[in-house]
Amino acid sequence: MSKNNSEKNAFEEWLFNDKTLDDYQRNTQLAANLISQHMARVSQPFSGITPQALAAEFAEIDLTQPLPSTEAALHELSQLWLRDAVWFHHPRYIAHLNCPITLPTLLAEQLLSAVNTSVDTWDQSAGATLIEQKVVDWTLQQIGLPQGSEGIFTSGGTQSNLMAMLLARDSRVAKETPERLVKHHGLPAEASRWRIFTSALSHFSIQKSCALLGLGYEAVIAVDYDDDYKMDSTKLAQAMAQALAEGLIPIAVVATAGTTDFGSIDPLAEIAELCHRHQAWFHVDAAYGCGLLTSTQFRHRLTGIELADSVTVDYHKSFFQSVSCGAFFVREASHLRHVTVHADYLNPLSAKQEGTPNLVDKSLQTTRRFDALKMWLSLRILGRESLGDAFDQVIALTVETHRRLIAYPQLEVLHAPELTTQVFRFHSTSELSANQVDEINQQIRKGLTRSGEAMIAATKVKGKQYLKFTLLNPTTSIDEIQQVIEALIHRGEALAGQRLQRKQTVGAH
Ligand SMILES: Cc1ncc(COP(=O)(O)O)c(C=O)c1O
Repeated sequence: MSKNNSEKNAFEEWLFNDKTLDDYQRNTQLAANLISQHMARVSQPFSGITPQALAAEFAEIDLTQPLPSTEAALHELSQLWLRDAVWFHHPRYIAHLNCPITLPTLLAEQLLSAVNTSVDTWDQSAGATLIEQKVVDWTLQQIGLPQGSEGIFTSGGTQSNLMAMLLARDSRVAKETPERLVKHHGLPAEASRWRIFTSALSHFSIQKSCALLGLGYEAVIAVDYDDDYKMDSTKLAQAMAQALAEGLIPIAVVATAGTTDFGSIDPLAEIAELCHRHQAWFHVDAAYGCGLLTSTQFRHRLTGIELADSVTVDYHKSFFQSVSCGAFFVREASHLRHVTVHADYLNPLSAKQEGTPNLVDKSLQTTRRFDALKMWLSLRILGRESLGDAFDQVIALTVETHRRLIAYPQLEVLHAPELTTQVFRFHSTSELSANQVDEINQQIRKGLTRSGEAMIAATKVKGKQYLKFTLLNPTTSIDEIQQVIEALIHRGEALAGQRLQRKQTVGAH
């Protein structure tokens, strides 16, 4: 109780509550103005500033001393962050799996952070829990998982893949020795013989998950891929048979529906069949390829995903949602009990028995953002088809990009696109060593980043240096992609010329 009702509580001035709504509105406007001013001025995806130069500007910042006003803090932030931000909405940002975001996702961010809902328990979220469950159910339907399947929002693909590996591990033990659950007793002795099979091109979070789960990197067997960069199912069958012959136990296979570099989709139905035969868990990492779920033209490329025991979906990659927004889905809801812990203060067993929906029962996290609202508003305002059409548009853009890239004799293009990436490299028509070609490709990317005119990615394939485009922007035109192609060829030729000249000079002496 306050001592005196007329006495003003100083905290009331800066906490968000019914008495600070004017300031809230003002701040919201200030934030919108600041972003609009910066966005209106953005002419390239990045300023090109180096980490050293930017770090120097932070050296004088003293966090023990607040600034005199909100405006001053925002002004400072403009210099330290926004001036040199990396802008994913820019058409020449084609580096990583970052998408431009929908207006409804941004609207949702404002709402969910203002209410500050946490969707761990019903008593902290009420309707938000039901909104998340509805979006989960909608996604299960898109995947084609049957009645009795379940899902939960996560921070992204890494956490979803961790959940998949955890459930694969613990459900194995639950099936064989139900009285000896891993969550109670830890790993059994035979755990050292468990093996997880995945393509050599799958995401590193599979290795990381196995390390975290006490299985170690060694438990992950990398299966070779075919000429289309898809896991070779014949080699998978051989690898599983060989493991068995060596006394090892195949407990799971991870297929990737959209590899990070190539966008290739592993043969899902064939892998499902092998898993069925070996009674191994079948996980599909569709963190990237999930965009096809709403595609009108290319949904068939995900055929077989409905056979999965579990699926990773990242709405923040190919559903145009803001970071973070991902989810994990499982064919049989009962497997989620392996992550359930009942705490008296939060989600007692009695609440479950009364039918109270506490989402924390299904999650690795406790306090958890209400990210589902972003998908909810995107579906309610834009609709499923708009999202699918946008992804289809990016696929069409990538096909045209491929057509342009293969027309240049100076470029080696590794694959036809199945989703929206292109891996390729500059290889001069003149005599250069393998090391020099690698180095030139590294320099092309560094040079583009330093100039800020375009952001592209790089990767290695079989030890060689490549460049990568990741297209996720349906507003990007092929002319803009053409500009990037020409800029990188121009840089490549200049770098190759310098090296040849050096070689000739050395030869002449
Ligand atoms: C295929 C795949 N799976 C998982 C992940 C990890 O997702 P996140 O960054 O959302 O944790 C990525 C990230 O690029 C990915 O490409």
